[in-house]
Amino acid sequence: MKNFIAANWKMNKTIGETREFLRSFIPNVKDVKDTDIVIAPPFTSMSAAAQEIKGTNLRLSAQDIFWEEKGAYTGEISPSMLVDAGCSHVIIGHSERRQYFREEDVIVNRKIKAAKKAGLGLIFCIGESLEEREAGKTLDVIKREVEMGLAEVDSDNLVVAYEPIWAIGTGKTATTEQAQDVHAYIRKILHNLYGNKSEEIRIIYGGSATPDNIDGLMACQDVNGALVGGASLKPESFSRIVNFKRV
Ligand code: PGA
Repeated sequence: MKNFIAANWKMNKTIGETREFLRSFIPNVKDVKDTDIVIAPPFTSMSAAAQEIKGTNLRLSAQDIFWEEKGAYTGEISPSMLVDAGCSHVIIGHSERRQYFREEDVIVNRKIKAAKKAGLGLIFCIGESLEEREAGKTLDVIKREVEMGLAEVDSDNLVVAYEPIWAIGTGKTATTEQAQDVHAYIRKILHNLYGNKSEEIRIIYGGSATPDNIDGLMACQDVNGALVGGASLKPESFSRIVNFKRV
């Protein structure tokens, strides 16, 4: 199975900064063969990013999507617009969308279905809050998010990102044991849903992944990649993550 490492830039980088990043990053990762490398810039930088990555081993993702194809939805972007702008993937269900924009499981499922219909690959995010973890509810939350998010959805071109909310942007990474335990559980639920086909699904970790902890995380049996926020904003640190070392 190929690894999958994606940069989630969130609300960062102008068009100029996007070009500057990619011009310095691309040469550092051009020989990487066994990892899919995906960049998720803000919408305003998408077209510049698409130009910069042309002919390289990088691919583009959006950070969000709307489920309708066109019409009176002020501020929204449709699945086919993302494809048109050069995206091959889209992040859906990120905890910041769930938290600040009240995207519930039903909305996440609707977005997932729309993205699949347009042929986009999914980076489907799930994860528990600190309160949920401390109350011993982690696995229940994960099960609910996976089953509701993926209701009536097949497993093609699906990447699941486990992002414990308490680890996002906090510098507090999950330990390799914590990550491995939840990833193994996700693998089990996916097996219940998809049988042997579930073995092709990459389960990636997100939440303060850095050059310092990536090697340990990637050594976990069920960690197949990473979704990286803060540490993906500098070409040097994201290159080191993509060029992680097998330990
Ligand atoms: P972080 O963000 O690496 O800054 O913790 C990860 C994410 O939210 O995807």
